[in-house]
Order: sequence, then structure tokens, then C-alpha cells
Amino acid sequence: MLNIITKLSSETVTKIIEHLEQNIVPELGVDVSNYAPGRSRVWFPYEAPLSDTRNYQLACQDEKIWTFLNNLCSTFDWKPELGLVSKGGTISPHRDAAYADFRSIGVNLGTVTWCYSRAYPMYKWVPNELQIDPPEVTKIQMTGGEVFEFNCKNLHWTEDVDPDRWAFNLWRISNKGRSKFQDFTNSLLINQS
Ligand SMILES: [Fe+2]
Repeated sequence: MLNIITKLSSETVTKIIEHLEQNIVPELGVDVSNYAPGRSRVWFPYEAPLSDTRNYQLACQDEKIWTFLNNLCSTFDWKPELGLVSKGGTISPHRDAAYADFRSIGVNLGTVTWCYSRAYPMYKWVPNELQIDPPEVTKIQMTGGEVFEFNCKNLHWTEDVDPDRWAFNLWRISNKGRSKFQDFTNSLLINQS
């Protein structure tokens, strides 16, 4: 399901965008994934490996953003472990990579049509015969402030994206990816001591 959990006030959205324009624009890099042409983005606090051969890396350490998002998600008992903030660009149909657990949170801060093809009915893998067939396609016009949850292993994409649209995507680490993530965060602790 694609479920809108809450909506941020327009004042909050404006404040976040001001912060992003002032502090995050210099950190943005062009998206390397071939399904997101023209999208600028930065990970925080760590960059996820998009293939099995890569590892996590330290990324943007913006306390303000991370605290805000953690507080927001604590209102629905969910704790993000990784995030990505992006500006502009469309993203073509894709599923999120192996690091990501099924349930993902999006925070939209601009104008977009957010599209979702629901084959897995819940936040878990099921075999073909238990998937929704044909998948249920939803396209939601968003204007800014929507906080929503979806299964990121279902195909999702954007259309009609405002070039100035900012968005956050938040993940928890999948069971499959947990030990690699744990090794990385442990190595950070060792380097600090
Ligand atoms: Fe995605």
C-alpha cells in the first residue's frame, strides 16, 4: 500500500526548504543511478551500497535534518537508519536495492506525481502466486508536505516533477543487509576511540 501518514504544514515545509537550499545545495552530487537522470542527491548519515561489491560510506552529517526526521518518524514508531535527500529530476520505475528493508518512508516537499505499482501486498516478500496480479497502480498528485509509507520493493517512480522539488527518502536496513551495516557502524566506533 501507499499510505499517506501525515502532512507537514506549509510553514514547516518552507523552513526545511530554506535549510536545504542554504546548507545542502553545496553537498549535492548528480545521481549515479541510471534510473534517475537529472536528479541531484546526497545521502545521510551514510551512503548505502547499491551493489553487493560496494560498502557503506560516511555521507552528509547534518544534525538538524537527522534530528527532525527522527522526531517525525518517532510519532509513528519507526526509526530511520539511512536517508537520501534529492532535488529535481524524475526517477523511472525501480525497486530499491538489497540494503533497504521493505517499508520505506518518503517525505515530499514539492510538486510531483508519485507513482506506485503494488504487487507485494504487505511489507514482505511473497511468491508470485500471492502477489497482486495485475499490480495495482496508484498515481498520487502531491503538492508538498506529504509523509508516506510504501513497500520499496514494489516498483515506484515519479512523473511531472518540479525541477525545484526536494524530497527525503528514509530506510531501515534489511535483514539480509544487517551484518554488513553493523560491521560498518562498528568500524566507525573503533576509529573514533
Ligand atoms: Fe526508490
